[in-house]
Amino acid sequence: MIFVIATNNKGKLAEFEAIMGREGYRVCSMAEAGIENSAPEENGSSYAENALIKAKACNPSGEYAVIADDSGLEVDVLKGAPGMYSARYGGAGLDDGGRRRKLLAEIGDTPMEERTARFVCAICCILPGGKTIQVEGRCEGHIAFEEKGENGFGYDPLFILQETGLTFGEMSEPEKAVYSHRARAIQALIARLKEENIK
Ligand code: IMP
Repeated sequence: MIFVIATNNKGKLAEFEAIMGREGYRVCSMAEAGIENSAPEENGSSYAENALIKAKACNPSGEYAVIADDSGLEVDVLKGAPGMYSARYGGAGLDDGGRRRKLLAEIGDTPMEERTARFVCAICCILPGGKTIQVEGRCEGHIAFEEKGENGFGYDPLFILQETGLTFGEMSEPEKAVYSHRARAIQALIARLKEENIK
């Protein structure tokens, strides 16, 4: 079975390729599966609903399975924002750097012990024939006072992972692939695929 990863985000695609590839699963991009760039409106009311919307919109032919994810960063002092709106935080005019600067400005000088946050990732996998598997992963940490590290994408340079004390931006891709919300969701998906004997 080949799993099409329904994302336009190269960082996410690389994480799926690394983790699923290591377990012997074959993954490819939408372009490699000959699927037109799909960017449906993410108007669900949860990460899981949005992941399902993205997976359905990808709609690959026959032999492919599809995997989509929806994720976000929840900052406690901002009452869970940006959360499901992480990709659009601050409006369409901002890039990743602009969104990070906005987040830092909103949190201001809140002390470290109150800068608690978590990344959440919901994954939806639709198998040929329509069987749907949904799983979730999360990781806890704090928001740094300033950006640290050059790796990753999105909010990575701001998120200090509880387990390592480093930002995802300071961690290598294999290190992030041990602890991240997406890694944990992918591991949960792999466990379900193994239960179902799907290779
Ligand atoms: P979506 O899941 O594509 O709707 O977007 C979620 C947004 O959350 C991304 O555009 C990033 O801004 C942020 N995000 C999700 N996962 C990560 C991550 O692993 N590192 C950094 N930012 C992330």
